[in-house]
Amino acid sequence: MNPFIFGEVVKDDNFIDRKTELESIVKDLSDGQKIFLIAPRRYGKTSLLLAAAEKLKAKGARVVYLDLFKTASVEQFAAALGKAAAEMRKLGFAEAVKFIRDFVSGLRPQFSINPDGSLSLGVDASPPQKEVFQMIENLLAYPQELAVREKRPVIVIFDEFQEITGIGGEPLEKLMRAVIQKQRNVGYAFCGSKKTMISEMVSKKSRAFFGMGPITHLEKIPSEYFEKYLAANFDKGGFNFSKETLRYIVSSAGSIPYYIQYLAHELWDLKAEEKKITDLDVERAVMLIAKRNTPLYQNLWENLPQTQKRLLQGLAANSGAAIFSGAFIARFQMKSSALVKKSLSLLISKDIIEKDAAGYVFTDYWMGVWVRQNCS
Ligand SMILES: Nc1ncnc2c1ncn2[C@@H]1O[C@H](COP(=O)(O)OP(=O)(O)OP(=O)(O)O)[C@@H](O)[C@H]1O
Ligand SMILES: [Mg+2]
Repeated sequence: MNPFIFGEVVKDDNFIDRKTELESIVKDLSDGQKIFLIAPRRYGKTSLLLAAAEKLKAKGARVVYLDLFKTASVEQFAAALGKAAAEMRKLGFAEAVKFIRDFVSGLRPQFSINPDGSLSLGVDASPPQKEVFQMIENLLAYPQELAVREKRPVIVIFDEFQEITGIGGEPLEKLMRAVIQKQRNVGYAFCGSKKTMISEMVSKKSRAFFGMGPITHLEKIPSEYFEKYLAANFDKGGFNFSKETLRYIVSSAGSIPYYIQYLAHELWDLKAEEKKITDLDVERAVMLIAKRNTPLYQNLWENLPQTQKRLLQGLAANSGAAIFSGAFIARFQMKSSALVKKSLSLLISKDIIEKDAAGYVFTDYWMGVWVRQNCS
């Protein structure tokens, strides 16, 4: 069976490196700190947080995880907090329903059971904002009450936390800060993937979450860890390859965990019969992946104005380029650095481009490859 996993949380043998990050997250959260974890898309944030959650649970902590990509309004956010509070107490279905209803009755919550046995919760009313905020305030206070009552650490993990701004704006951010900062016995992790947004949330003095706790910028996993992991798995599958080819796999995927696993998965299937992987195969696999995603990229591309297309051509041709330099502006007819800046911020807001440690890059690494191959 193909051992390479992408697009799902990885654990156990598939979870590599991240030892120092894991240790420090576990320690900070056990100590009741409020921590921020920031990285571009697909670097392995969720896997790291869930690995930390497992360790914390093993130490006796109550841990809940909330993914804010799933909540699209303050009402849904309140419901998600209600569900999390019931989870902290490990309540069964009937008890959880009663418990959650007490907190959010004004939302007319609808309960059902998912196929995996977990509770699903919808809301059927939009009470005045003030009432919803009151529910949220009560629910946010709950983890601290529980931690004190049960004399054990409680940990709350918010994934995709940048979404909070769209959910409830500044008033919600302020409310959260006011309640959370007083909670000595509850550890909070706030994780964000839209780097520009989340960085602004924690680094601007005027924003509610400024200075609340340590910030970790998650980096790529060093190539040698991935080379070892690839070697071990391709070995098990009886493949032939050179060390250089493994390094080439990593670099051809921008050294980003998700894309490395994606490419390795593709190569495993592509060479299942022949069982030999060369640099040429790596290039072929990258081409195949980019080609497979053509409908998606083409649709994005066709809807862009010419200036943004030219900027993408420039970024694809030369990632990490000095995009504000005169040479770049001349080569890609960007007219002025102000136009580069404006186009960049539009592409960031469309989630096509993001900023990583090296500069501006494609949010979807394969799209950069596709633009280079098809649009220049
Ligand atoms: N520690 C790791 N070891 C091996 N592979 C990893 C690791 N972390 C992440 N990956 C790879 O990256 C993929 C994405 O991981 P994960 O969902 O944890 O990242 P993320 O940063 O939360 O992504 P997103 O931005 O999409 O939410 C995994 O499916 C896996 O292929
Ligand atoms: Mg994630």
